[in-house]
Amino acid sequence: MSAILLTGGAGFIGSHTAVELLNAGREVIIADDLSNSEVSVIDRIETITGKRPVFIKADVADASVVEAIFASHDISAVVHFAGFKAVGESVAKPLEYYRNNLDTALTVLETMRRHDCRHFIFSSSATVYGDNSAAPFSEESPTGNCTNPYGWTKYMIEQILQGTGKAYPEMAIAILRYFNPIGAHESGLIGEKPNGIPNNLLPYITQTAAGIRKQLSVFGNDYPTKDGTGVRDYIHVVDLAKGHLAALNYAEKNTGVQVFNLGTGTGYSVLEMVESFKRVNNVDVPYAIAPRRPGDIAECYAEAKKARELLGWHAEKNLDDMCRDAWRWQQNC
Ligand code: UD1
Repeated sequence: MSAILLTGGAGFIGSHTAVELLNAGREVIIADDLSNSEVSVIDRIETITGKRPVFIKADVADASVVEAIFASHDISAVVHFAGFKAVGESVAKPLEYYRNNLDTALTVLETMRRHDCRHFIFSSSATVYGDNSAAPFSEESPTGNCTNPYGWTKYMIEQILQGTGKAYPEMAIAILRYFNPIGAHESGLIGEKPNGIPNNLLPYITQTAAGIRKQLSVFGNDYPTKDGTGVRDYIHVVDLAKGHLAALNYAEKNTGVQVFNLGTGTGYSVLEMVESFKRVNNVDVPYAIAPRRPGDIAECYAEAKKARELLGWHAEKNLDDMCRDAWRWQQNC
């Protein structure tokens, strides 16, 4: 059977996607340089699924390495997760972000062309919607005006993929715009391990509940939202991973470029998240209201219709599941 290559497959979303693909009977090859993940994840994927993915420690910006992977395996599709993803760091290190994120995508795509590999699934982000219009964002909403280099790399790779799809109409490319992935596998074996002080809300909440951080800063309570705090479309990472399997199934039956929002379609505020986390897990999360964080928008949530209609996929887990699974992982990791 031909295999699916997951670049960056040892990371947060990649590892959960590997589990879903293996559970669906797919052959999985993970290529990851372990720059933001640990090799023990491969064992844990095996523990969960009973199947061991092939693991290759590789930087997929290195053309000769990627060529060797394609030369020695029968790869029918690539799910491309590899890339730097820390928004704040991208502001401080723009050249590294542009170089790495564009290089990895281009190198993988060029190698796929040489080997006539036609299916490409890309990790994009709702950040490409910037503040061009108001939520809910549909796939047709305007993009651009990104507020940081990380977001621009996603925007630029989307442009590269649109051009690639036009030039090579036999290819099938799915651009997946993730909203806010959180939670962890219910086994508690895989999840997100932020480097240093977390920037994202849920990792900060779990570390505060665990006593690693003193209190959560709620960035702004004067937004035009239900309770004044920022509203986001949080999606359980296992639902998100299943969205990749649905996109792969779709790409295998179609050609061309399609953009899909992967979100729940429902927005929750920062305070709703804190309250849900406290209630579900019966723990305290001390917090204080702080100034708005530069670059944040008031509301970001998806119009989730297209993925439901074309992929037959929708998010099934609720906010309580996300809070429970995130806390289980925090206590295990
Ligand atoms: C951020 C990135 C986005 C990226 C996504 C990955 C920005 C501007 N956007 O989205 O590009 O794809 O992470 O998950 O950084 N909040 C607090 N206190 C905290 C942390 C967050 O109040 O300590 C609030 C934020 O103001 C926001 C919400 O929680 O309203 C969610 O924040 P976060 O988890 O950082 O995600 P985004 O900013 O939506």
